[in-house]
Amino acid sequence: MLNTVFLAALCCLSVSLVRAHPASPLSVAVVKQQFINADIVPDVVPKFDPIGVAVLNYSTTLQRLSNGQDVTQGNVTQEPVVYIHGTAAAEAVAGGPFNVTTIKYTVLAIDGNTAGSSNPNGYNLHYLRNDYVYGQNNDHTVTLNTTTAPVVPYQGPAPPSGSGPHRYIWLVYAQPANFVAPSTPVQGSGVALFNLTQYTAAANFGDPIVGTYFTVQVGPANASVAVTSAVDSTTLPQYTPTSTSSGGHATMTGMSNAGLKSEVSTGAAAIVVFALLFFTF
Ligand SMILES: *[C@@H]1O[C@H](CO)[C@@H](O)[C@H](O)[C@H]1NC(C)=O
Ligand SMILES: *[C@@H]1O[C@H](CO)[C@@H](O)[C@H](O)[C@H]1NC(C)=O
Ligand SMILES: *[C@@H]1O[C@H](CO)[C@@H](O)[C@H](O)[C@H]1NC(C)=O
Ligand SMILES: *[C@@H]1O[C@H](CO)[C@@H](O)[C@H](O)[C@H]1NC(C)=O
Ligand SMILES: *[C@@H]1O[C@H](CO)[C@@H](O)[C@H](O)[C@H]1NC(C)=O
Ligand SMILES: *[C@@H]1O[C@H](CO)[C@@H](O)[C@H](O)[C@H]1NC(C)=O
Repeated sequence: MLNTVFLAALCCLSVSLVRAHPASPLSVAVVKQQFINADIVPDVVPKFDPIGVAVLNYSTTLQRLSNGQDVTQGNVTQEPVVYIHGTAAAEAVAGGPFNVTTIKYTVLAIDGNTAGSSNPNGYNLHYLRNDYVYGQNNDHTVTLNTTTAPVVPYQGPAPPSGSGPHRYIWLVYAQPANFVAPSTPVQGSGVALFNLTQYTAAANFGDPIVGTYFTVQVGPANASVAVTSAVDSTTLPQYTPTSTSSGGHATMTGMSNAGLKSEVSTGAAAIVVFALLFFTF
């Protein structure tokens, strides 16, 4: 434990005060594959090619969630703290989306319903907040800070009882320099159906730079829900049997982000299989 604290302190001294330790390409690839395996891409999010990772911290309950974690409704009622960090390659791009001095971010969360569900009218938006900026370093990730009021204040998951495990998908977009918040949804809106494609077009956003999701189920499911498959990180092109995580990542041990865990585990055990959603009815 002391070691961990010491290493964390060393790491933070050796990088700038705002730059966090970069995300490994493997951890990013695992998250991307989890989105595909959970049918989030392309059903809910048309395109997802992350260049880093996002982590949610429900600070009064579970703290940091793993990507794809199954949580209870009561564990996620409060607006979480959002952390992001890019890969080393993404963070090295001058004026790029991880440039701490210039870039602001939009964070939003969508109830993606259950995997394989039919949603002809779209999905409900549970959170939308613009103008996040890079905040302080927090254990290798960077806290996003904002003083701007949310457009859609966070409303925790409330899936209908019996409707199965809903996917709550969080996306982070880099705002262009000339960003003007789209007129819809209007400031202070509640949970309502949302058209992601229209919003990102109106906001002049590119694809999300990072994202994460968790699932919430209320009551036993009354119908069968598509089974989504686990990610075997050893099958990903980013995986190399000899590569341990780059220095410093061992200090992530004990944190609950799945992507980050994979970096630790690949070094140690050389194989990591992520269980996503296995449901039997
Ligand atoms: C979660 O956020 C709270 C409040 O900012 C902070 O005190 C706590 O250290 C964070 N937990 C983790 C694991 O980052
Ligand atoms: C998470 O939710 C479960 C079930 O509602 C509850 O028993 C548990 O205490 C919660 N955990 C935290 C850390 O809030
Ligand atoms: C951030 O962007 C500014 C303005 O484009 C540029 O001057 C600066 O070099 C960039 N810094 C980094 C670290 O990319
Ligand atoms: C969202 O908007 C796009 C572009 O206008 C449109 O093609 C699509 O059908 C809309 N989706 C829903 C669910 O309304
Ligand atoms: C971000 O928020 C934290 C905690 O509220 C604060 O300590 C820090 O100075 C803020 N950083 C910026 C860049 O606003
Ligand atoms: C299953 O539960 C959902 C949510 O309560 C409800 O809308 C749906 O009609 C139910 N389906 C069946 C087959 O009972």
